[in-house]
Amino acid sequence: MSTHDTAPAPTTATAPASGRIQQHRRYLMCRPDYFTVSYTINPWMQPANPTDTALAVRQWQTLYDTYLALGHEVYLIDPIEGLPDMVYTANGGFIIDGVAYGAKFRYPERVPEGPAFMEWFRRNGFEVAEPVEVNEGEGDFLLVGDTILAGTGFRSTGDSHRELADVFGKEVVSLNLVDPRFYHLDTAISVLDPVEGPGGVDKANIAYLEGAFDERSQAILAERYPDAIKVADADGAVFGLNSASDGLNVIISPRAQGFEAQLRERGYNPVLVDLSELLLGGGGIKCCTLELRR
Ligand code: ARG
Repeated sequence: MSTHDTAPAPTTATAPASGRIQQHRRYLMCRPDYFTVSYTINPWMQPANPTDTALAVRQWQTLYDTYLALGHEVYLIDPIEGLPDMVYTANGGFIIDGVAYGAKFRYPERVPEGPAFMEWFRRNGFEVAEPVEVNEGEGDFLLVGDTILAGTGFRSTGDSHRELADVFGKEVVSLNLVDPRFYHLDTAISVLDPVEGPGGVDKANIAYLEGAFDERSQAILAERYPDAIKVADADGAVFGLNSASDGLNVIISPRAQGFEAQLRERGYNPVLVDLSELLLGGGGIKCCTLELRR
């Protein structure tokens, strides 16, 4: 076949044999220069266990470099001394079409992060919707196709789900988290085809950990996502679901071996990045990644 009668390959999308299509992503991250565990707001955090900030930075850097190598854009917000959890940028807000719904954190230790992120959004050209209700951003809100899945039970309130629906005018589906280890929705659900794109809304799919949800929520997920990957407890327990997908590449923990195999079977390309040090704060890959949808 001559090279002249074929269209040039698009630079932002690759379609491998599996038919999975990579979508370009813009992410916001925060270097963990001040990372430590000095308080306990989730069961993973044990201030008595030592943390290694330099190691956290090196592991975080690997994630940052991985995104760039995959062709994504990564923006940075300056870390603030005394806010060790700021590295978990997913909690900083929730953004669709240039509108950023700000975060209002549940625990006083993280409250100052809310305004810091909103200031960054404003300075970078996003329209900010100031939150009235307690919510922890993309940690609890996940866009799947044109629907927002919203978690509650530990951090974001049910009232924030209503506020979220008012801000974005989209369908919001509330899900109840019941296991304290999986206190944010992004620890229990991974969105594999995160936004509408080539292939359309119907292709959007998820992976999830059933045991993290109450029965009503399990039934909702089973009905809406019959093709979802259900991960084993062992993979959930190492934060395997706390991952970032671009529709083709799925960045996951190397400890989530069962999930890695399930992704391969479905034609995704698992990319392994170890954030063991950041797990000491109860966060993983997705927690360190906020999607900026313009
Ligand atoms: N130490 C942080 C907290 O408990 C971890 C946040 C993890 N973020 C996430 N998106 N799951 O708030």
